[in-house]
Amino acid sequence: MARRGARRDESTGIVSQPTSGPSNGISLGSNAQWGGRFAAGPSAIMQAINASIGFDRKMWRQDIAGSLAHAAMLRHVGIISADDETAIRDGLGAIATRIEAGEFPWDEGLEDIHMNIEARLTEAIGEAGKRLHTGRSRNDQVALDVRLWVRDAIDGLSGQVKDVMRALVARAAEHAGTVMPGFTHLQPAQPVTLGHHLLAYVEMLSRDLSRLADCRARMNESPLGAAALAGTGFPIDRHMTAAALGFDGPTRNSLDSVASRDFAAEFLFACAMCATHLSRFAEEIVIWTNPYFGFVRLSDAFTTGSSIMPQKRNPDAAELVRGKTGRIFGALIGLLTVQKGLALTYFKDMQEDKEGVFDAAENLTLNLAAIAGMVRDMQPDVARLEQAAGAGFSTATDLADWLVRSLKMPFRDAHHVTGRLVARAEAKGCDLAGLTLAELQSEEPRITEAVFGVLTVRASVASRTSFGGTAPENVAQAAAAWREKLG
Ligand code: ARG
Repeated sequence: MARRGARRDESTGIVSQPTSGPSNGISLGSNAQWGGRFAAGPSAIMQAINASIGFDRKMWRQDIAGSLAHAAMLRHVGIISADDETAIRDGLGAIATRIEAGEFPWDEGLEDIHMNIEARLTEAIGEAGKRLHTGRSRNDQVALDVRLWVRDAIDGLSGQVKDVMRALVARAAEHAGTVMPGFTHLQPAQPVTLGHHLLAYVEMLSRDLSRLADCRARMNESPLGAAALAGTGFPIDRHMTAAALGFDGPTRNSLDSVASRDFAAEFLFACAMCATHLSRFAEEIVIWTNPYFGFVRLSDAFTTGSSIMPQKRNPDAAELVRGKTGRIFGALIGLLTVQKGLALTYFKDMQEDKEGVFDAAENLTLNLAAIAGMVRDMQPDVARLEQAAGAGFSTATDLADWLVRSLKMPFRDAHHVTGRLVARAEAKGCDLAGLTLAELQSEEPRITEAVFGVLTVRASVASRTSFGGTAPENVAQAAAAWREKLG
């Protein structure tokens, strides 16, 4: 129940201590919005720094699921009565309904999600509510809730990663034979196919998916019942609660159970790596949509105009995917840093584990949705891609390879001959195929008419049939294999 003088914040629904009251002489600056609140005294400062309900209420479903499993186990082993368990179950059900309806009276004075729910439960059902915390502590409770939340996040994100992969595979199949420039150093290197380029991201995302799966498999142990840190003297059945909550089993060491958040750090690394891959693709979209490149066009759905320059089509969604990557890295570094100085076991520092995890998962969710949308939306300019694919003497390697194959020239020599021919073409202002046979022969007399067959971009990509190479037939096959695998 709200205490005397307490205030309810209408936007968050959280009740907090009075914003004014007898001053204890502590002044935290003249900003009335913030400073005024702390004028109420140390208890207000303590409450503000201590309370986590503002963010950990995101875990209400997980907290209730954990309590239901715990209560069922307490009843099973005879620690609480069947009536108590029924009352707890009904009471928690009613609380879930109120939270879902946005009618739950969150109270900052009750600190966190665990105490908010337990206090309201006891308010509603009395004595039985007070028995729920037997054989557990908030330390194992919060370790459990965060695990359950991360596990749900992994499942959601994995589905989204697959969706992006499906979108990429569909576009890759469509463009298995569309040629485009391949780059190193962002300089024209060799022609590739657009399908091959898109499938490169499918490979990266498939590893992100498997990292998330590894993380899930490793973290899928229940810390519930480790209690404060040492375990408990009550005859609890940790295997039962673990099974009820979908874990492979209980964690084996009570100290580790309440002290460790490496599963969350591992999750954040998987998020950071995936965000990095998406960010690279976002960067390519920024480059490709630039009119100087003109490789793809995004519709109005994923671009914005400028308030002053009417011609602008800014790839904001791609820029934000790239930009949001920073906060996801930040969450990983933040959590590693929070843990690095902690002796065993629990310290309140660990309360700082949650916001970064929530924020990273939510922003990665957005990034995945935006990339999936842009992959489906983008319209490649096939003619422009083909024209660009031939620029920058991109088939020079094909010429060198022809000299090796047809004239048995050592590759290093072929490289030099080709280099001189590139210089000639540059001076003449044409591409390699624009040189006459006589001009080619002036550098290497054994060159024949047949060389022209390898100098086109189409011939170049068609020749790259080595396993994993860019040849259209390879790409079509790879896309079909991915489509099969992704279902
Ligand atoms: N809100 C706390 C957290 O997020 C819950 C655990 C509190 N445990 C304690 N011993 N104070 O970490």
